[in-house]
Order: sequence, then structure tokens, then C-alpha cells
Amino acid sequence: MKYYNSIIETIGNTPLVKLNAVTRGIPGTVLAKMEYFNPGNSMKDRIAVKMIEDAEERGDLKPGGTIIEGTSGNTGMGLALTAIAKGYRCIFTLADKQSREKIDILRAVGAEVIVCPTAVAPEDPRSYYSVAQRLHEEIENSYYPNQYDNLSNTVAHYETTGPEIWQDTEGRITHYAAGVGTGGSMCGVSKYLKEQNPEIVTVGIDTYGSVFKKYKETGVFDENEIYPYLTEGIGEDILPINVDFSLIDHFIKVTDKDAAIMTRRLSREEGMFIGWSCGSVVWGAMEWARENLKEDDVMVVILPDHGTRYLGKVYNDDWMKDHGFLEERDYSSASVIIGKQSGKGALTTISKDATVAEAVSLLTSVDVSQVPVVDGDEFVGSISDTRLLAQMIDNPGIKDKSIHEVMEKPFQFVPVDTTLDVLSSMINRDTRAVMVRDEKGRPRIITQHDLLESIANG
Ligand SMILES: Cc1ncc(COP(=O)(O)O)c(C=O)c1O
Repeated sequence: MKYYNSIIETIGNTPLVKLNAVTRGIPGTVLAKMEYFNPGNSMKDRIAVKMIEDAEERGDLKPGGTIIEGTSGNTGMGLALTAIAKGYRCIFTLADKQSREKIDILRAVGAEVIVCPTAVAPEDPRSYYSVAQRLHEEIENSYYPNQYDNLSNTVAHYETTGPEIWQDTEGRITHYAAGVGTGGSMCGVSKYLKEQNPEIVTVGIDTYGSVFKKYKETGVFDENEIYPYLTEGIGEDILPINVDFSLIDHFIKVTDKDAAIMTRRLSREEGMFIGWSCGSVVWGAMEWARENLKEDDVMVVILPDHGTRYLGKVYNDDWMKDHGFLEERDYSSASVIIGKQSGKGALTTISKDATVAEAVSLLTSVDVSQVPVVDGDEFVGSISDTRLLAQMIDNPGIKDKSIHEVMEKPFQFVPVDTTLDVLSSMINRDTRAVMVRDEKGRPRIITQHDLLESIANG
């Protein structure tokens, strides 16, 4: 029988998945390490188990004890799963800017959650750092893992995430990008990778409102860099011990808005339903890659968590609009393009039984480059001028053949609310057009020409 003894044994060995749409125009290969495949849906499962097992080994946590942590939610989830597997009680403190979903999820797995104000200094007795500290002092046989300053955090990534990336890329990785919060996932992986190949370049992703980038570049801890921001999990107003600046070659800052927009694109265009800081990482990594990556380079970006925790925020259109994050172009979609075609009459099609010569004559007379092929009411194929021309040059005899002998596959139907971003990633040299149904259910075609016209004219 193949099985695991408890849920925490399933942690790790997450897949690397190539980014295809959001990396268009960027040289090299960009691979995402999909940490939501962990049982708690984030990379923090790895550090939770490591911090608890190291504490057990040192005798800092004894059977029946209580785990207390100040956590943005993901570490809490990992700790809660570990606590269930090992029989501990959990109390978590977190800042009130955290998603409602994160708090509900922690309570769902049996943890006690205390919500603290965001807009106070870390040393203020009301901050989630201070409350966690105080509870630890007050509750007997309690353990405060403190993911910020507990080096088991970095070691967890050094022992698992780093080697997984090295093995899965067969040592071909040239760049590694990660968000920096506690610093564990950036520095643990960076340390392992740089030991294998010191040439590997690491890019830390920071937020506006955080001290990291300026500190790395100037050595100055500048209080003026600190102001409230919304992105969850990355950036800090402290320098956690897990952040080893010598292991981070460059920092890039990403705004809340750019991160939110990229998060939504990753879900819609890559099918990766990921969390907000994943958008920061990919946005920042792409900014770096655009200028610095070469064709043979392999960049790995780590995507820490899952989208469910952000349904009420970046995945909620009203929330996005309230924060001024939804750009007009986000709304521009296939429906806008077909709306502009409404005066153009019925869709031009050709029967599968027509001859190639008839098809050429049709393409010329209506001045289009491609048309769908039909069999009665059914769309069974497509033809395009460039492909027909190439076939006729190869074999001039085909002009008397039926279209169904030479046609290509039918154009794909897409939903009418498909955005221009997605359409532009679908329509290319090989896929000449897509189709949609208008509000009356009539088929319409969207070609490269329609898309260009729509983008150019707004
Ligand atoms: C959603 C999310 N992204 C990124 C990070 C940053 O990772 P690290 O703490 O390893 O620097 C965290 C950590 O809190 C997180 O919860």
C-alpha cells in the first residue's frame, strides 16, 4: 500500500510549471514553483514542520504544549496542521489587514485566532508581534516559533525547496526570484543554489512601504521607507534574522496595484489560481527578466500560496475598483470587439464541400484572410489565405479538391467576456482567429486584425 502516515508527510515536492502567457516577449524559460500544492496550500507548511521538530529536539516544546505565533495566516495553517498531527494546541495573532478568509481558514482547522491592529509599531503592546510574545510569557509549556528570527525557517527551504529546484531543473537554473517577508524562502533556497553554482543570480521582491531594498543598496535602515501597504506576506518594517542580505543579489519593489493585476492575469491566463504576493513576485521577476534574461537562461520564481485566501480582495472586482486597481483595459473584452462588428452583416463561412478554387475566390471577393468551414450548422474546420497559398505552391493540382481535404482545425469558441490580454495571447501566427457567440447566440469571428484595431483605437 502507498500512503502517508499523516497529512504533514505530504509536504514538499511541489511541481515546477512553465509560465507561457505572462512571459510573452521575455527571453529564456521562466518556471513557477507551485507551492499551493502543499497540504496547507502554501510554502509555509515546510517551515512549520521544521520549526516544531527542531523545537521538540531541543526540548523547547513538550507533549501537550501550546504553539503561539504571530502569522499572516499561511504559517498558521502549516503550524495548525503540524499541531493536529502531533497533538498540540495553537494560538495565532495576526494583523487586521489580513484577509477574512485567512482568519476563517485558521479557525476551521481548530486554531484560536487573535486579530490585532495593523497601524501600530512592532514594539507597541497591541501589535501582533507583541501580543504573541506576551501570550508566550504567560502560558506555561508554550512555544513561540517566531518565523522571523527562527533559523529553522531558512533551513527548511535549504533542505527541501532548494534541492527540489536544483534537481527538477537538472542544475540548469540561472536565476531565482522570491518575495521577501521573513526571508526564509529567498535565503534558504539561495544558499543551497549558490553552493551548487555560485553564478546563480537571486532577485528579491519587495513592496513599496518596506525597508529591504534601500537597506540592501545603502546599508541604511530608513524609517521614511516605512508606510502602510496592502500586499500580504512580503516586505517588512523590521530586519528579520532570516534575511541574509549577502544571499540576495538584487531587490525590486512592486506596487500593490501591479501585484494585484498580475495575480489576476496568472489565474486567467496561466490557470494558476494563486495568492497576491505571487503577483508581486512575477511582476518584479518579469521586470528583471525583460532587461537581463538571455535565451538559454532558466529562471525559477516561487509562488507561495493559493487564491482562495484572496477571494474577497484581488479576486473581487468591487474591491479592486474601490482601490483604483481595475484598469479600463481589464474590462475591454471580446464583447467590445464584436459590438464594433455589428454593422458588418452575417459571418462569412464556406461549405466543406466547396472547392479550393471557390475558397480562394471567396477570400478575395470579401477581402478576409480566413473563414470558418461549415457542414450545415456545424463548424468543422477553417481555412486561411497564407496556408492555402502555401499548399497551392506545393501542389498546384489541389485547386479542384474539396475544402474538407485541405482545411485546418476549427477556430476555438471563447466566452464573450474573454479579455483583450487573453485574446492577444491566444491569437498568433498559428491560431489566426477565435470565435464567440453574441448576445443572440450568433457566431462571430475575432481575427488578429480585429484585435489590433481594438487595441490601437481603445
Ligand atoms: C503569501 C506570502 N508570500 C510571501 C511570503 C514571504 O516569504 P518568506 O517569509 O519566506 O520571506 C510569505 C511569508 O509570510 C507569505 O505568507
